[in-house]
Amino acid sequence: NEISLFRSQLLQWYDQNKRELPWRTLAVTESDVNIRTYGVWVSEIMLQQTQVATVIDYYNRWMKRWPTVEKLAAATLEEVNQMWAGLGYYSRGRRLHEGAQKVVSELNKQMPKTTAGLLKQLPGVGRYTAGAISSIALGQVTGAVDGNVIRVLSRIRAIGADSTSPAVADALWKVADALVDPERPGDFNQAMMELGARVCTPKSPLCSQCPVQTHCHAFRKVSIKQETDSKRL
Ligand code: ADE
Repeated sequence: NEISLFRSQLLQWYDQNKRELPWRTLAVTESDVNIRTYGVWVSEIMLQQTQVATVIDYYNRWMKRWPTVEKLAAATLEEVNQMWAGLGYYSRGRRLHEGAQKVVSELNKQMPKTTAGLLKQLPGVGRYTAGAISSIALGQVTGAVDGNVIRVLSRIRAIGADSTSPAVADALWKVADALVDPERPGDFNQAMMELGARVCTPKSPLCSQCPVQTHCHAFRKVSIKQETDSKRL
């Protein structure tokens, strides 16, 4: 059916075009679920307001210094702030530190293992970040709707309405939860982000290179308009 075709086309494109990012490698190779969840949490918090290219170095240094949630919990806030220097929005680093201390003191050193648990227990983790961590690190079948994914989904479904309205955001989350591939939820969500960052860009999207062009209502509308226009000429 159309949904399984969409999934396989998107994932095939992702497998061929994805960037090898350190948190992606960790999510696939690390057998300890606690370390995997911790690492993806760190990456997602860093990525909240900072570009991928900048985050890579910071992430690698951070994970070298504090490879586990326990090590981070034992650091001082000064050390955390020093490590964060240059990334901006310092409250993000402080919340990682606070969250780590909470995991150690209240959760028996175990990172939460569900979307709801991540959302409830970790400061600075909202609906998007919880979905990203649980799908990427834990294989939970849940959508993850960030700014890029909002744009991709709005175009695929040709939703012209303002996506900052709660009703539209809610509808987009429903679409994302229905589309996510149950076999590879983390890869699927990262493929959607990657598509938004590299192909389905805000201005002049590269529709001719899009792996899911045939599913896109916005593309169809534009093509029909261009066809009609050219016949008029
Ligand atoms: N932005 C937020 N999370 C990301 C991820 N896992 N990969 C690429 N870009 C992202």
